[in-house]
Amino acid sequence: MERTLGILKPDCLRRRLMGKVINRLEDEGFAFVNGMIKHLTQKEAEGFYYVHKDRSFFDDLVEFMTSGPVFIMLLERENAIAKLREVIGATDPAQAAPGTIRREWAESKQNNLIHASDSLENAKFEIKYFFSNKSGS
Ligand code: CMP
Repeated sequence: MERTLGILKPDCLRRRLMGKVINRLEDEGFAFVNGMIKHLTQKEAEGFYYVHKDRSFFDDLVEFMTSGPVFIMLLERENAIAKLREVIGATDPAQAAPGTIRREWAESKQNNLIHASDSLENAKFEIKYFFSNKSGS
């Protein structure tokens, strides 16, 4: 079994889409190991997305991610990291494959509803970032 980190972003909670997305994740075989609703501080959002710190969209991304509470999910299934990326679809909802979560419900490249770890290395970092080793690794 593999673990990955997903985040339902502020747009997902504002638009009351949490239930639909969680339902979809459960249908895809993901088990919820841990989860928390949290309003990220600027520091937390900047630290989480530090790999993007030199990108033009970084400040807007941090502002968006701190604009309301998020739901942080520790998820488990076989091949969880790749499978979650597949189920959520491409960053830009317009480019995401039909049937993916972002294609179905997301509004824009930034307001794309859900984040998912993109590699084993990043999943380890991201799980540890929000969940201590007790529940994370
Ligand atoms: P996420 O998968 O959380 O990883 C980084 C986030 O930055 C991404 O989803 C989007 O929310 C945002 N992002 C990535 N590329 C762009 C872009 N070109 N313009 C605006 N936001 C972006």
